[in-house]
Amino acid sequence: MQKANRWIGRLAGVAAGLVVSVFLGVPAKADNSAAEATYKAKCALCHGPDGKGETATGKTMKVKDFTSEEVQKTSDADLTDAISKGKGKMPAYKTLTPEQVKGLLGYIRSFAKKS
Ligand code: HEC
Repeated sequence: MQKANRWIGRLAGVAAGLVVSVFLGVPAKADNSAAEATYKAKCALCHGPDGKGETATGKTMKVKDFTSEEVQKTSDADLTDAISKGKGKMPAYKTLTPEQVKGLLGYIRSFAKKS
C-alpha cells in the first residue's frame, strides 16, 4: 500500500510538471495562434477565414480584401484605428486589449499575398 501511494505521489508530480510546462510553453508561440483564434471568433464572419471577405455578410457589407494591396498599403495606425474604433459599418472592438489589436493587425498582415 505504502509503495503504491508513493507511486501515485510521483505520478501526480510528473503530471503537475507536465501541466505547468504545457502552460508555460503556450505564451512562447501564442502570439499568432491567439490572434488567429480571436480573428476566427470575431472577425471571420465578415472578413472571411482567409481575409478575403467572401462571406455572405462580407459581400453584403462590401468589406475589402485583406490580401489586397489596398489594405496592405494602409498604415498600421489606420488599420489599428479601424479595429479599435470601428470604421463605417465595421463595429468598434473596444473590449480588445492593445495587445490583442496588435496581434490581429499582425494576423491581417499575414494575409498579404506572398510575392
Ligand atoms: C459585422 C461585420 C464585421 C466584423 C464582425 C468585423 N469587420 Fe472589419 N470591417 C467591416 C466593414 C464593413 C469594413 C469596411 C469599413 C469601411 O471601409 O467603411 C471593415 C474594415 C476593417 C478594417 C479596415 C480595412 C479597410 O477596409 O479599410 C480592418 C483592419 C478590419 N475591418 C478588421 C477587423 C477585425 C480585426 C475584426 C475582428 C476583431 C473585424 N474587422 C470584424 C466589417 C466587419
